[in-house]
Amino acid sequence: MKYKFATLFVLSCTLLLADLSLLRAQPYEQFHPGEQWLDDIGTHINAHGGGILYQDGTYYWFGEHKGENNRAEVGVRVYSSTDLYNWKNEGVALAVSDAPDSEIVSGAIIERPKVIYNEKTDTYVMWFHLELKGQGYSAARTGVAVSENVTGPYRYLRSYRPNAGDWPVRATTETKRKKYDADTLEWWTDPWREALVDGLFLRRDQKGGQMSRDMTLFVDDDGTAYHIHSAEENATLHISKLSDDFQSFTGRYNRILPGKFNEAPAIFKHVGKYYIIASGTTGWDPNPARLLVADSLFGEWQMTGNPAKGERADITFDSQSTFILNVQGKEDAYIYMGDRWEPENPITGTYVWLPIEFDENGQPFIQWHEEWDLSYFDE
Ligand code: GAL
Repeated sequence: MKYKFATLFVLSCTLLLADLSLLRAQPYEQFHPGEQWLDDIGTHINAHGGGILYQDGTYYWFGEHKGENNRAEVGVRVYSSTDLYNWKNEGVALAVSDAPDSEIVSGAIIERPKVIYNEKTDTYVMWFHLELKGQGYSAARTGVAVSENVTGPYRYLRSYRPNAGDWPVRATTETKRKKYDADTLEWWTDPWREALVDGLFLRRDQKGGQMSRDMTLFVDDDGTAYHIHSAEENATLHISKLSDDFQSFTGRYNRILPGKFNEAPAIFKHVGKYYIIASGTTGWDPNPARLLVADSLFGEWQMTGNPAKGERADITFDSQSTFILNVQGKEDAYIYMGDRWEPENPITGTYVWLPIEFDENGQPFIQWHEEWDLSYFDE
């Protein structure tokens, strides 16, 4: 009798767990947004704020290896996959340093790493948001590391605030010459907002380099690479052209929607237009996403509202954008990748991947799918 009860108990627990999807494991045949996602060794994927590089039939997912807090204690982790559902843990691509004077010493903040491949030098180039140890989020730098192997190890090169000494495209003489007034205006007042759009922080940082926090990379069809980041106290996105080897800035950059406070930029190109999905600035808390669109990267950008539709669109299905993945071998197939942050225990944060859909006007949007697979793009 006792034995029977025990069996029943175990059976119902198993059913309950199965129902809660806690028993899902590889091989996966679908995406399950927001759920635990196990790698080939049965561990929840640890690649937050990530981005994906496709190379020779394989996708590589790079992301922040999180622990119990948000400081980098391991570095950037990389996974590989050929089907996008099942990921193999390829180890640490960029390791934090134990040298106390290293900029990437354990305890620094390394966020949103992205990797692109440079054909000319046959080198993989990783850029990431770097905050120096013990300085909170005040350093606002971008860091770069390189490797001859896609999965690493990556060699850390340097970090800085980019575009020091340079003005953005279309900066007027007035913008350049206006007096430095960052300290005299009270934040969040109307005059301050006006000055912000006018280049308040742009001017302040022109000499020393522009702030660079949330970031992503983009390689255009002509092979030119761009670095997109939140600058000017997160009020304005900057898009900067990178050098031919992708390892430095060229000084050519564009201010995107000054004063609109966009962060978490994720970009894709579709039928000749460039789209950015970004978020507002509410830290780890989700907010409504924003869709930005332009005909050219260095042109004028428009903000067209929240691309998320339906229930919980106001919090982007409890996620914040990090990357838009171009699915290989399928037409017009893009995946929105977002993070569902868990700041109290960051390692448990999950991933919200959803297909980008297009409405009757060709406008991209995302909606919730409890589970879905790539055949969605064949319909
Ligand atoms: C978010 C940002 C994250 C992280 C966080 C820190 O807004 O997107 O990458 O920097 O703030 O509070």
